Parts: sequence; C-alpha cells; structure tokens
Amino acid sequence: MADASLQLTGIYKSFTGVRALQDVDLTIEDSNIHCLVGENGCGKSTLIKIIAGVYERDAGTVVIKGKEYEHIHPIDAIREGIQVIYQDFSLFPNLTVAENIALNEELAEGRRLVNWRHVQRIAKDALAQIEVDLPLNDLVEEMSVANKQLIAIAKALRQNAELIIMDEPTSALTEREIRALFSVIHKLQERRGIAFLFVSHKLNEVLEISETMIVMRNGKTVSSGSRSEYDNARLVFEMTGQTIAVKSYEFEADTSGPPLLKVEGIRAKHALYDIDFELRRGEIVGVTGLLGSGRTELALALYGTLPIEGGHIYMDGKQVQIKSIQHAIANGIGYVPEDRLTEGLFLDQSIGRNVVVRIIDRLRGTLSLTDPKKVNGQIDQWVSTLRIKTSDPDLPVKTLSGGNQQRVVLARWLASKPRLMILNGPTVGVDIGSKDELHDMMKQLASEGMGLLVISDDIPELLQTCNRILLMRHGRIVEEIRPQDTDENELSAKLIEE
Ligand SMILES: Nc1ncnc2c1ncn2[C@@H]1O[C@H](COP(=O)(O)OP(=O)(O)OP(=O)(O)O)[C@@H](O)[C@H]1O
Ligand SMILES: [Mg+2]
Repeated sequence: MADASLQLTGIYKSFTGVRALQDVDLTIEDSNIHCLVGENGCGKSTLIKIIAGVYERDAGTVVIKGKEYEHIHPIDAIREGIQVIYQDFSLFPNLTVAENIALNEELAEGRRLVNWRHVQRIAKDALAQIEVDLPLNDLVEEMSVANKQLIAIAKALRQNAELIIMDEPTSALTEREIRALFSVIHKLQERRGIAFLFVSHKLNEVLEISETMIVMRNGKTVSSGSRSEYDNARLVFEMTGQTIAVKSYEFEADTSGPPLLKVEGIRAKHALYDIDFELRRGEIVGVTGLLGSGRTELALALYGTLPIEGGHIYMDGKQVQIKSIQHAIANGIGYVPEDRLTEGLFLDQSIGRNVVVRIIDRLRGTLSLTDPKKVNGQIDQWVSTLRIKTSDPDLPVKTLSGGNQQRVVLARWLASKPRLMILNGPTVGVDIGSKDELHDMMKQLASEGMGLLVISDDIPELLQTCNRILLMRHGRIVEEIRPQDTDENELSAKLIEE
C-alpha cells in the first residue's frame, strides 16, 4: 500500500519584498483526495513547490512518512513518491508521447543506447494503467491539453507516485475531459491507494472530488477539514472574506446600423459547417459546446488562423477577408487563446513590457522614440485595472502567480482596444472573486462599444456575462439561448448532450 503521509507545520516563505507563505500548516493523508483552494496569488503554487523541493522554505517543519526533512531536495521528494504536475505540465513538446513518459526511466537506468522498443512498451503500460490509448509516436506538442495531462499522469505513475499533486489540472479542460480526469483519479486512488492534492478555482469541481479541503487566504491556511463540513458559500467566504452575489448582464446592444460582426455561411474543412450569426456593438455573445464542437475553430476562423472554405464575414456592414492574423488585427479583431500559460507570454521579460508589447508602436512619440511616461502610464493603468498582484511591474512575468500571468495576457489585448475581442476561456485559472471583477470589466468594455465573443464552458460565467449564447455541436450552431430563458442545470444538460 502506498504511504503518502506528509505534514507541514508553520511554513514561511518570502520572495524579495513579497511574503508568499506565513505560518502554513498542511497534512496529507494516505489515499485521500485533498483540495487546496484560495485566490490568485495566495500561495498555493509556492506551497506545492516547497513540498516538491523546488523552493527552500524560510521556516517550518516538513515530515514525510514520519521522517523529518531539514531540506527537501527535488530528488528526495521523487524518492518519497511525490510527483507534481505543474500548471504547464513540464513535458517536452518536441518529443513523442512515448519518449515523454518513458525516457526518464531509460536514461536513469544508465543505458548508453536508448532501447526504443522498451520505451514504447513502458509508455504503453503506463497509459494502460489509466485506461487511455494515445498515439505513442506523435509529438506531445500536437496533443490537446487534456491529453498532455494524461501523459503527465502516466509519467508520474512510472516514477512510482504515491502522492500526485496537480496544480490546476482542469483549467483548460472541457466538461467531458474533466469527467475523464476524475475517473482516472478515482481509479488510481482505489486500485493503488494513491493520494492526491488538487488545486482548482472551480468550486463545484473541488466540492465534487475532494475528501479533505484546505483553504488558503493571503499566504495563510484559513481552515481545513472534511469535505462534508464545506459548501460553496463557506468556501467563497473563507477565500475572499466576502459573499459574492450572482448578477446577470443587462445591456441594450446598439442596434442602429449594421452589426459589428456578421458571419454568413462560413465553412471550414471538417470543423465548421454553415455558421451564421451576428454580433452587435455592446454585445457579449457566448459560444459553448464540447471539445470538437467547433467552438475554438470558430474563433480561429475569425482570427485568420483556420482557413475558411466558403461563406462571408462582414465587419460594420463591409465584407472583409480574414486570411491571416494580420488581417484580423487590421480589422480590429483580437483573440486571447485558452492555452495561455504556454502561449503568448515572454516569461523572462517584465510584466510591463508584456502588457504594452502590442501597442508600443502606437505610443511612440514624435521622435519615434517610445515616450516612457506614456508607456508607464499605460502599464500602471492596466496593472491596476486588472489588479495584477505585483510589487513592481518591472519584475519578470515569471514572478507572478498563474492567475496573475493570465491577467497579463488579457491586459495586453485589452490595451490594444480591438473592436471585436474574442476571449477563449477568459477566466480559466482565475479565482472566484477576481472572476467576478473580470466579468464586470468585460461588461464595462461592452458598454463602451466593444463586441465580445466569449468561448466558454463555464456555465455560470456564460449566464452571468452573455446577452446570447450560441450552442455548438459537431461544427454547427444548433441553438441560440438567452440566459434569461434558461438556468444552470438546463444549460449543463444541453452542453453534454450529443
Ligand atoms: N519566483 C517568484 N519571485 C517573486 N515572487 C513570487 C515568485 N513566485 C511567486 N511569487 C509571489 O508569491 C505569491 C504567491 O504566488 P503563488 O504562485 O504561490 O500563488 P497561487 O496561489 O498559486 O496563485 P494562482 O491561483 O494565481 O496560481 C504571489 O504574490 C506571487 O507574485
Ligand atoms: Mg498557482
């Protein structure tokens, strides 16, 4: 039987100028599913990295399986069966599925030549344990986020995991992929007694999977206990210190003149069939559907990265050709992808630079030199509007917590003030309090005349922010739903219907 017991007591950790953890306690029990919740920047990832030996704690004790560790070296953690799957998975995109799962082991055995047949077999076995079948020789970069996740789990199993820690594993997964992941977690818990520590911002999900709950706020543990002691309201209150009311979006779109965007019969090979819809200035239109429904493909078609084979696109009544990202940008269309942690940020560059990189041309002064005052003004404005939690925008983006990095990507796009903003999973990885703020901001931008197309399968998000929701299945829009005519249960049911 696996032994995953782990006790952390009185953990402190500071980074230059930031106190990330303050007197944190955490107990992990054998074969139990633990959930760690808290707002963006409250210290969850830092705590995980301390357990994994990536960061050295400033104070506190760590006992793993009854043994006290003065320092934890990453190797100690691995030897004790602790495996961490980070927000970015740490896989090698340019290696195949099989290589990612098994290469470590092959190399560890000290062979001079890699036995490729062996690599294949190891990888196949590991995937069989979680009952998934993936093309072993395909490159990991070609895999969906969900599959990357499964590959990371298979890899962890090969390294004799007894405790698997997952930092926001579901943030970029669809409803169905989440179900599949949960079933893998339950299987591993039942059959192999593996314990889990799971970080997520989706409270319904946390309440569903956890047996033990740990709540953090501002670098401290606020409470912990059995799942049965918690509900949504308690979690929100403990995380944020306030209660959050649900509000819907009531805004009259500008119906004078032609619509901002009109899509007429667009088709894309194996992905989109006869898509028709309109979006007016001031409108927030949701697009939802399962993986493969065409929701992301629709965004890519409008952003010029998926070739269209027929149909027309009009902006403000004028037909436009969008065959490349440049065309999209020239027509005032912006796109924030869902896979934001691995796409789009220059991690070693400053927060500020990442925010203004798109608009730097526009801010150039008369001497065609960038006016630092204007640039800094813009940076400060966006850092404060999006409440990016940092002590200094000159610090590199990698010093931000995951949720705050997401905000930098959003800020960059919003700063460029597109006419039509396509947001794919706009609040993925964002905590509940901030989610609410981002929703308010989206409504604010819409009320100032921007059009927003929001791709999401977060049902409360769709209901609270959209004027209309387009439901997609198999590459077609099958229904247009008004939030006031439905509710969470009905929309969830429709979403997973085939
Ligand atoms: N390497 C670093 N250098 C400086 N500050 C850091 C570093 N890593 C984290 N921090 C800071 O420590 C605090 C806690 O960050 P952490 O990443 O642990 O938050 P989190 O709870 O995981 O948030 P999220 O939900 O957004 O991922 C934040 O204020 C963050 O900016
Ligand atoms: Mg984090």
